[in-house]
Amino acid sequence: MPKRVYIETYGCQMNEHDSEQMLRLLGHCDYSETKDAKEADLVLINTCSVREKPEHKVYSALGRYKWLKEKRGTIVGVAGCVAQQEGNKLLERVPYLDVVIGTHAIPMLPQILQRIKVSGERVCETSYDQDGEYLKAVLPGKSLDKVKSYVTIMQGCDHFCSFCIVPHVRGREKSRSSQEIIEEVKHLAERGIKEVCLLGQNVNSYGKGLKEKTSFSELLGHIDQIEGIKRIRFTTSHPKDLSEELIQAFTKLPKLCEHIHLPFQSGSDRILKTMHRGYTKESYLEKIERLKKVCSSIALTADVIVGFPGEEEEDFRQTLDLMEKVQFDDLFSFKYSLRKGTRAAQFEDKVEEKVKQERLSILQEIQKRITLKKNQELEGRVEEVLVEGLSKQSAQDVTGRTRSNKIVNLKGDLSLIGKLIPIRIVQGYAHSLRGEIVSAQDPSIYNL
Ligand code: SAH
Ligand code: SF4
Ligand code: F3S
Repeated sequence: MPKRVYIETYGCQMNEHDSEQMLRLLGHCDYSETKDAKEADLVLINTCSVREKPEHKVYSALGRYKWLKEKRGTIVGVAGCVAQQEGNKLLERVPYLDVVIGTHAIPMLPQILQRIKVSGERVCETSYDQDGEYLKAVLPGKSLDKVKSYVTIMQGCDHFCSFCIVPHVRGREKSRSSQEIIEEVKHLAERGIKEVCLLGQNVNSYGKGLKEKTSFSELLGHIDQIEGIKRIRFTTSHPKDLSEELIQAFTKLPKLCEHIHLPFQSGSDRILKTMHRGYTKESYLEKIERLKKVCSSIALTADVIVGFPGEEEEDFRQTLDLMEKVQFDDLFSFKYSLRKGTRAAQFEDKVEEKVKQERLSILQEIQKRITLKKNQELEGRVEEVLVEGLSKQSAQDVTGRTRSNKIVNLKGDLSLIGKLIPIRIVQGYAHSLRGEIVSAQDPSIYNL
């Protein structure tokens, strides 16, 4: 009887991808996935430490699985960025925790489980792997029942923005070879994947340190040639390293979707400097102008932080001004959260919690209006939608995304999954669009 594993995932796409990799790896060791923790023989919590809130989730999650350990002898483990950060401290603090798996230790998971089984020891594996073993992908053996997949092209980060824990928990930037990436994408295409999203903390600096030099734009060019792949996305880009070559790729490469996630973090030059971001408000806006000029339909999303130490009313006004100028399609906004070990943790002029909350609310209200307006502007237009699955809200609906990455719900059944279809947008909402299928004869297909 195969054993069952339940994985709970927090954090970014990189963690989602790591969870999937762990599932594939465990599949080779006679584990199958369960969506019900109660019947699991192994529970893994894949954690994020980018802000205080996600970091704390690990302790409440662990609390929920204590009884499982007592009742069923379930092996309980913590993986991901909190595991890397806390290491043995987690084992000391949580007596029923069996294993801590750092961000470079995923390939060691089968051996770690074997050690637990044989000797019953509690294991903490958080050393950094210099050989890049952790970058090797676990490929799917059979067809996948989904249409899109992440592909890691690099791990870690060398930027050390003063607020950010990521370089401390993911290690230095390391790229995978372009051959390995291309092979993986081909393998995924053969198993039915239509869309790939290339992952890295800063994909624009892809290729640093590789023997055979390939720029990120060149890598995109190679992937664009792969048969079966219909769409390419990537995340995340750092504004400082966004090259003209990459901007041009949006018009040159037919499969590259017209969307870029370009975190700006703040609109104030003073704050950008203490954040150590390496660009100014003006140079950010110039890059946005180039993007809009080269690709007029490009959708823009970003991350922003409010209440960074030293942020005054005027700095915040600059952030709002940048937002109004760019008119983002969507924005992920966060209150600054102090991360131990980062440079900003030493900064003294902290912003009061109340002020941070007020600024966040003001900013989110403004963005809500912009997002809704942008979604409504699409009403009447025909967009190419890749149908990804059945809708969770309605049994009659399927759900997919436009090339600009907006969610579209429409009437349909299983037969549409994996298809690219022209859809007329009939209604734009705050978080999604409603659409209907357009026949190939309908002239509105050309958005005339
Ligand atoms: N590599 C990506 C971002 C990774 S972290 C990039 O450079 O763009 C995702 C987002 O979390 C960041 O863009 C930032 O907006 C937010 N973030 C990171 N550290 C934070 C902190 N200490 N407090 C609040 N938000 C933070
Ligand atoms: Fe963090 Fe900056 Fe690296 Fe992004 S670029 S992961 S924000 S240190
Ligand atoms: Fe969180 Fe680690 Fe991603 S800290 S944002 S899960 S790289």
